[in-house]
Amino acid sequence: VAELEDVTSAVVIADASVAALYGKRATDSLSAAGMAASLIDFPAGEEHKTLRTVHAVFDRLFAVRPQADRRTVIAALGGGVAGDLAGFVAATALRGLRWVQCPTTVLADVDASVGGKTGVDHEAGKNLIGAFHQPAGVLMDVETLATLPEEHFRNGLAECVKHAVIRDASLLDFIEDHAGRILAREADILTDFLARNVAIKAAVVSADEREAGERAHLNYGHTIGHAIETHVGYAHIRHGEAVSLGMTAANHLAVERGLLESEAADRIEDLLKRLGLPVRREGLDAEKIWQIMQHDKKAVGGQVRMVLPVMIGQVAVFDDITPAAVRGAVAALSL
Ligand SMILES: NC(=O)c1ccc[n+]([C@@H]2O[C@H](COP(=O)([O-])OP(=O)(O)OC[C@H]3O[C@@H](n4cnc5c(N)ncnc54)[C@H](O)[C@@H]3O)[C@@H](O)[C@H]2O)c1
Ligand SMILES: [Zn+2]
Repeated sequence: VAELEDVTSAVVIADASVAALYGKRATDSLSAAGMAASLIDFPAGEEHKTLRTVHAVFDRLFAVRPQADRRTVIAALGGGVAGDLAGFVAATALRGLRWVQCPTTVLADVDASVGGKTGVDHEAGKNLIGAFHQPAGVLMDVETLATLPEEHFRNGLAECVKHAVIRDASLLDFIEDHAGRILAREADILTDFLARNVAIKAAVVSADEREAGERAHLNYGHTIGHAIETHVGYAHIRHGEAVSLGMTAANHLAVERGLLESEAADRIEDLLKRLGLPVRREGLDAEKIWQIMQHDKKAVGGQVRMVLPVMIGQVAVFDDITPAAVRGAVAALSL
């Protein structure tokens, strides 16, 4: 990357699990390229995506010798947590250092590493503190996915189905045709598959970097999905599982409104199931979910906004979502 020609030192930031797996390989290759390289790790897990961890990383960053300066580059190595946290460190250290993202989860490959959002959580909510800070580059190595635990692998596939439904019917065909090889993590199929997903997310966010219009389409499956996450508790459901349920509920709502053919909804549902993602869940309280949706930071004046598919590959935004429609869609998740 031309933008990085004057870099003299590199600091790799990774969570402890990824640091143990790939940290040495990363710093060795940076050293081999002639840079002073060091590694800073932090405890793995969303619960550590906090200002407290950022502070601990700063303590170590400013103790690194040679001292970090404008020619230092940050490398965020790992999943979305490392990307968001290290990206935020890069955005704020010395008023902004250049950084490179090295994603090692499906979610980070196709979603978190595209768009330039960085940040951490606060007790009051997820991702409340942050900055837009575009990386100078993204270096993706699909072979790192070989060690990713199965549930994290499937978690990221929910966003891939989302990308297909909002933009690209042929990507849905591709996932259907190659589901077995994707789940077996064959490197050549994963390379094509992840690249197609990156291209969709990149096209959507570059059309709308600050989230005024089109970027909202990425919220497909996320309005009800986030409410389900809040309702059952982040510790009890993975984001991808909630999004899978959220997409299924949104599809149901779209079919009920006459927007989407039920065959299309069934096709998406079958694919989610094949990928090991949930499309049914007992014990969801539709009333609570509706209330949470009204308080979502993306709801404007209590008005719930949802992204609904009109066909596979095309979505539209609706502002006239009724509590009855949401109740019906949530009830359909326990049928
Ligand atoms: N910035 C954005 O635009 C954006 C978009 C979507 C999500 N996110 C954020 O991403 C985060 C979730 O990311 P995630 O699901 O990647 O979680 P994560 O970063 O916590 O990674 C999941 C787990 O997998 C481990 N791991 C990562 N790579 C591995 C590998 N190759 N082999 C073995 N283990 C590995 C990690 O140590 C961790 O325990 C959330 O905080 C979310 O807010 C950000
Ligand atoms: Zn998501």
